[in-house]
This record gives sequence, C-alpha cells and structure tokens, in this order.
Amino acid sequence: MALERLDKILGNSSGISRSELKKLAKKGAVRLNGETVFDLSVKADAQSSIIELNGEVVNTEKFIYIMQNKPVGVVSASNDKNDVTVISILPDCMKKKGLFPAGRLDKDTTGFVLITNDGGFAHRILSPSNHVPKTYIAKLDGACTDNEISVLEKGMELKDGTVFRPASVKTLNPERTLAEVIICEGKYHQIKRMFRAVGLEVTELKRIKIGGLSLDPKLSEGSSREIGADELKLIEKI
Ligand code: URA
Repeated sequence: MALERLDKILGNSSGISRSELKKLAKKGAVRLNGETVFDLSVKADAQSSIIELNGEVVNTEKFIYIMQNKPVGVVSASNDKNDVTVISILPDCMKKKGLFPAGRLDKDTTGFVLITNDGGFAHRILSPSNHVPKTYIAKLDGACTDNEISVLEKGMELKDGTVFRPASVKTLNPERTLAEVIICEGKYHQIKRMFRAVGLEVTELKRIKIGGLSLDPKLSEGSSREIGADELKLIEKI
C-alpha cells in the first residue's frame, strides 16, 4: 500500500492545480471513502481508496479512455488559445494530466471523439496500417449516385497528390443525400475532400463509430463518459 497526499493523488489524476483543489476542498467538493475531506494534506492509497470530486468518483488508474460526443464549435486539441477544446469540456472528475484526443474531428464535425492518455493505444487505433475503421454519417448537398460511390470505393488521388485509400460508402435515404462512410485513415478534412472530388459538398458530418464501438446514443452532445474494459476491446476487434 503506497500512501500519498490526497492533493497529489487528485492533482495527478485530475490535472487540476493544488491551489484550485484546495478551494474545491474548502467548499466540501472532495470525499475520501465517503467522508468529506477539507484538508488535502491527508494521506490515502490511490489504488484502494474511493476518492470523489464534485460527487463523481475519480479514476486513479494510470490510463483512462473516454468517449465524448463532440458538439459543433469545439476543437479536437488538448489546449487552444481561442477555442473551447474537447479536453476543457470534460467534467473535472475525468480531467487527468496528459489527456489528448486520439484523432481529430473538424470544428464543425460532431460525434465520437476518443480521449485518452495512452499514447500506445492511440497510435494503434490511428495507424492506417492497423485498419481500425472510423464510421461517419455525412449529409450531402446532392445525390450520391452509384457512379460517385464506385469512385470513392476505389480510392483516389487528388490533384495535390493526396491519396485516399478505398472507402466504404452506402446511402441511407431515397434522395441519396445521407451517406454512411467508413475509412481507416484520418487525413485532414478527408471525407469533405473525398466528396468534393466527386462534386458533392458535405453539409453535416458526424462520427458514429470507432472500430467496433458505437457512440453511445444516450450520450448527449457535449457529454463524456468513461469507456469500460469490454468496450475498449471492441475498438480494436473488428
Ligand atoms: N473527415 C472530415 O472531413 N472531417 C472530419 O472531421 C473527419 C473526417
């Protein structure tokens, strides 16, 4: 059993500064094994204690994996001078040092962002050679015909030399303006550029699945929740 000061444990697992934690503790926001703690110099065992911040249990494990339903207007970055980030909208109990989004969605794209501090895992799911599919729903400004689908499904090279590997595309409505698109890479504005290359504009884009794990339909826009161990396995099991 390794005892550490509660402010150290909370600082490491939440990324919140000690001075801020002190203020929160004064307000009664910290509980240790069910008891409110006002003085964070008290020692605890991070592994076996139940530590709560603002009523939520704090995850003191080394790695954390979070599913977020990103709203429009939030940037996929760890920090940003001008914009709200996927990290800044996390609830305090999930904030941990070293968190970053594993893969970027554009500011105007919504849906599943995976946030973690596990660099190895992020690399595995992002590397195109591992073929972890990312599934999106794209709203288009016109009909996506079988011709366009066959171009997108063959893969393409843009005039600037960017190569997009074959995608899987199927339309979802009779007007063919709504499409499910699956890609295993994540190049800059990839889906918008793929459709633009066949004469269509993406007017709305949402990521609904990473590997075999779907965005939780109960997760409202802007909300986040931890990914459980069994769900985590689904991401790499396709
Ligand atoms: N493709 C895009 O064009 N934008 C995204 O955010 C993700 C994939």
